[in-house]
Parts: sequence; structure tokens; C-alpha cells
Amino acid sequence: MSTILPLKVVSFTLNGRRVELTDPSPNTSLNEWIRSQYGLSGTKRMCGEGGCGCCVVSATKTDLLSNEQVTLAINSCLCPLYSINGWSITTVEGIGSSKKGFHPVQKRIAEYNGTQCGYCTPGMVMSMYSLLQKIPEPTKQIVEDNFDGNICRCTGYRPILDAMNPLQLIQMN
Ligand code: FES
Ligand code: FES
Repeated sequence: MSTILPLKVVSFTLNGRRVELTDPSPNTSLNEWIRSQYGLSGTKRMCGEGGCGCCVVSATKTDLLSNEQVTLAINSCLCPLYSINGWSITTVEGIGSSKKGFHPVQKRIAEYNGTQCGYCTPGMVMSMYSLLQKIPEPTKQIVEDNFDGNICRCTGYRPILDAMNPLQLIQMN
């Protein structure tokens, strides 16, 4: 006799929009799924193994120890789609755009020439955005440490760190 297993529904929000998926494949990463959605190719994929940071998105979820809502920068290439039930995911499109107006982090990375080929830029922006949700007034050292997981092959990092000057960002917010 065959057993009928209950359907597994994964429910979450993406850029404020509620999404419900039934039985997502265990082989599908959050990165693959996001990039398959119309208009959401800003989140990039390069190494696919957690090394470069170009796939970073922001995730807000309940911390299991403190039971409080926490916001983290996560590597979407390493995150299985089925594991995000109850989370809120924000991609680089969700924080600003040419139509809605850019977020201060997006503005500054452009103004300070922190982007050249642009492939790392969404990950850089979302790492900084996530940090500011967690620590609204980070020190320069915290900002620098925050970019440990983000690689840029073009800019040499100085323009990116100049753009992410925490004091200037706080004033713009
Ligand atoms: S694609 Fe490189 S860390 Fe995810
Ligand atoms: S701007 Fe080209 S990888 Fe960073």
C-alpha cells in the first residue's frame, strides 16, 4: 500500500510580496529560484560555493536562541529554497531602483566608483544593507570586517570602502 505524504508548503516574503511554494525541490537553491523570477536577476551567481559573495541577499528571520527577529546577509547560492519558511528575503531590487529612488548604499557605491564590471556590486550593497539593519551605526572596522565574504576583481576595494563610510551613510538615511 502506498503512503501519501503531506505536501510541504514553504511560505516566505520576497521584497515584501508573499510567496507560497509547494514541494520545492531539495536541489534548488534560493539563488537559482530568485534568478528565475521576472525582473530579479540583480542577485548574481559566480562561484556557487559561498566564496565570492556576489549572491548575497538579506534575510530576516526568528533567531532560535533569542526568539527575536534578526536580519542577516546570506549567501543565496548555499541556501536551499525549502529552508526559508517564515523568512523575509530582500534582494537588491527590493531596497531601491531608478523608478523608486536608490537606497543610500546604492547611491554611494555608484558615486564613489565602487563598481566597474558590476558583478560583485549587488552582493556588496546587500552585505552593507544587512549590516545596517543589524548595527545602525557600525564603526569603520566593523564595516571592513563585514566585507570578508565579498570579493571584487576590479576595483581594488578602496572605492568600495570609501562608499561604505558609516558616518556618511547614517547622515543620508
Ligand atoms: S555565488 Fe559565490 S558566494 Fe554565492
Ligand atoms: S566591480 Fe567587477 S567584480 Fe567588483
